[in-house]
Amino acid sequence: QVTPVLLSGGSGTRLWPLSRKSYPKQFAPIMGEQSLFQQAALRFATGSPTLSFTAPVIVTGGDFRFVVTEQLAEAGIDPGAILIEPEPKNTAPAILAAALYLMARDADAVMLVAPSDHVIPDAAAFRAAVERGLGAVAEGRLVTFGITPDRPETGYGYLELGATPGADEGPVPLSRFVEKPDHAQAVAMLASGRYLWNAGIFLARAADLVAAFRAHAPDVVAPVEAALIAAKVDLGFLRLDPAGFARAPSNSIDYAVMEKAANLSVVPFSAGWSDLGGWDAVWREQGPDAAGVATFGTAEAIDCHDTLLRSEAESQVIVGIGLENIIAVAMPDAVLVAHKDRAQEVKIAVDRLKARK
Ligand code: GDD
Ligand code: MG
Repeated sequence: QVTPVLLSGGSGTRLWPLSRKSYPKQFAPIMGEQSLFQQAALRFATGSPTLSFTAPVIVTGGDFRFVVTEQLAEAGIDPGAILIEPEPKNTAPAILAAALYLMARDADAVMLVAPSDHVIPDAAAFRAAVERGLGAVAEGRLVTFGITPDRPETGYGYLELGATPGADEGPVPLSRFVEKPDHAQAVAMLASGRYLWNAGIFLARAADLVAAFRAHAPDVVAPVEAALIAAKVDLGFLRLDPAGFARAPSNSIDYAVMEKAANLSVVPFSAGWSDLGGWDAVWREQGPDAAGVATFGTAEAIDCHDTLLRSEAESQVIVGIGLENIIAVAMPDAVLVAHKDRAQEVKIAVDRLKARK
């Protein structure tokens, strides 16, 4: 049995103005009818004769607790537990809290850590990849999932293969994990053909993850343990203790543990995966037409190329004429117009707007 651990505490600022502080991207229906969070939960709700999932554990922030319960109910999913972080500290403390929680309930618990900002069109194929990783998990390995890279993306982690994967896409040992390289490094890794992108999804025994934290990121362990011991149950939510959690350093699991651990394996996954990290990714995933135009809502594109036009308000029409490489997203109260190559800088715009208040 595998327990999905769904991370949904990120702020998703690069998808402003659709993604807001009180309603981040993972809860918005960016692609398809359901939110990315619901899609993530549903992806790991169905098992197979040889793989079964328990109810998921959700780790999120206090502001999102009700949107989480509402969206789970709407998707017909009963949560196993909802852990509430007193403040966002990135993924390392969040994942460790879930691992310690699960280990206390079952010393052999196996967890599948899944972000909620991904698009994986073929969920069954991904579940099959999870199954392929279980043998390595039983040997005490931390299993990552590797995506064939097609560009020198600097927003992802890179997995250096320690062996050539077979046609069965079974797990191979990892020789190195490089989180978010600079552009030159990314270009070199892409050219070498020895690297896959880290999908950001991890499969491991909770006890092995905790051991990896103890070995490589001991400074996270004591604060998170304290926060869990003093946690309070509140309306079915498990609220981690603020005083303990405040002492945890803010760090991602990738930097804190994965770059350092020696017992990593990678299961190659080739059936389609994308992190909707910015509007350029949404444009790519939305399936632009021959001219590279993707639209959403009521939009009219005249002689446009490589452009995303998106209107989120029902009665609002968005029109583009002669645009090249533009992202335009209209909400009732805010409009973004940006060069497509600079979609990542939306984060800077959001910081500036915040500073104004
Ligand atoms: N609960 C909680 N608390 N969740 C969080 C927090 C937090 O403080 N911070 C981030 N998350 C959630 C996000 O909502 C997202 O679902 C997931 O954790 C991953 O965080 P991101 O901030 O989106 O990470 P990333 O995309 O920059 O990088 C990671 O994912 C890439 C692939 O998508 C890394 O694992 C990379 O190596 C990887 O390539
Ligand atoms: Mg992400």
